[in-house]
Amino acid sequence: MTVVRTQVGIVGAGPAGLLLSHLLAAAGIESVVIDSRSRDEIENTVRAGIIEDWLIQLLKDSGGSDRVLRDAQPHQGIELRFDGAGHRIDFHALVGRDVWLYPQHEVLRDLIAARMAGGQDLRFGVLAQTAHDVGERAVIETTTAEAEAITIEAEFVVGADGSRSVVREAVTGSQTDGYFKEYPFAWFGILCEAPPSAPELIYSNSPQGFALISQRSQTVQRMYLQCDPDQDPDALTDDEVWEALRARLAPHPLADGPIFQRDVLRFRSFVASALQRGRLALVGDAAHTVPPTGAKGLNLAAADVVILARALEALLLRGDRTEIERYPEVALKRIWKAQQFSYWMTSMLHTVPGTTEFDRLRQLGELYSVIESEAGQRFLAEAYTGWPLH
Ligand code: DHB
Repeated sequence: MTVVRTQVGIVGAGPAGLLLSHLLAAAGIESVVIDSRSRDEIENTVRAGIIEDWLIQLLKDSGGSDRVLRDAQPHQGIELRFDGAGHRIDFHALVGRDVWLYPQHEVLRDLIAARMAGGQDLRFGVLAQTAHDVGERAVIETTTAEAEAITIEAEFVVGADGSRSVVREAVTGSQTDGYFKEYPFAWFGILCEAPPSAPELIYSNSPQGFALISQRSQTVQRMYLQCDPDQDPDALTDDEVWEALRARLAPHPLADGPIFQRDVLRFRSFVASALQRGRLALVGDAAHTVPPTGAKGLNLAAADVVILARALEALLLRGDRTEIERYPEVALKRIWKAQQFSYWMTSMLHTVPGTTEFDRLRQLGELYSVIESEAGQRFLAEAYTGWPLH
């Protein structure tokens, strides 16, 4: 059995784990990052595409990504569509901040390249079996694809290992202990070859259900359609998908083209019952899940990481435990605000199966109260563009 010693053991090479190793390295703290997936899988899985302003600045300033300077596209607002008309929320005018369209897998490519150039110990195809706090250190028991057992011994272990986190069990005592909500719908996501149908994102509430028009480039578009959680992504023809999208966007015109990827995204809200215990902590989807409406998942994971990185600097460089013990309290405040925002956007924009006419008309009343009030628009803009990170 091989033993690897480091300062911080990080389980998961998604955005949270990679950003954490990057910020720790800048502070002179060594880490080992492991992930059960291959580099190719991590770099090519399609995820969300909206990044908050502060995170773009951080990726630039920390040397995590030079490409964001060139390739991320600023979006100064979004459109809310309902009752047959579109209403623009102008983030830039309301709160002086934009959001940026830059797909998550591009962030991952940049961070992996930056970490490799920095000599990071980054291991793909390594599965974490268990994590433990054993008093004066924390341990991750792993196995490689070749069935070799490797023990990682660290001063601190972080679970950035997603919604099926192995580290969560060591922190909360169970896989499922926490606060949980499931929704009676999902999103059917597509990537297609087509020109953009709009310059900004369109979030559309319609009697047929929700739809979201997003973009990727001048030739590739990302769109989502509310569907049943058990929807088989291959059951609909391209024509049926376009017909459903057009019905939900009408009368806004939609440019179509070949659909080359389809996926179904489940809707869940979850917050783990604990985020830290002894020499272990959780960040990102290991700590919480938000439904995708409003694009908070990646941004919230990155906010956890910034808070935790500062706390680990205090602990490992100065022997000060105060910040690590306060990590859950500080992170949870933002997590619950993001839970509320994602829940609110979800409930305001989706059609619940079997809904009553009262519910539908109340929902329109809610949407009009937002767009006809500057305070309502500002509330949405502050949350969507991301609250400042103190
Ligand atoms: C995208 C995803 C979201 O969940 C969202 O709210 C906006 C955009 C996207 O994939 O582009």
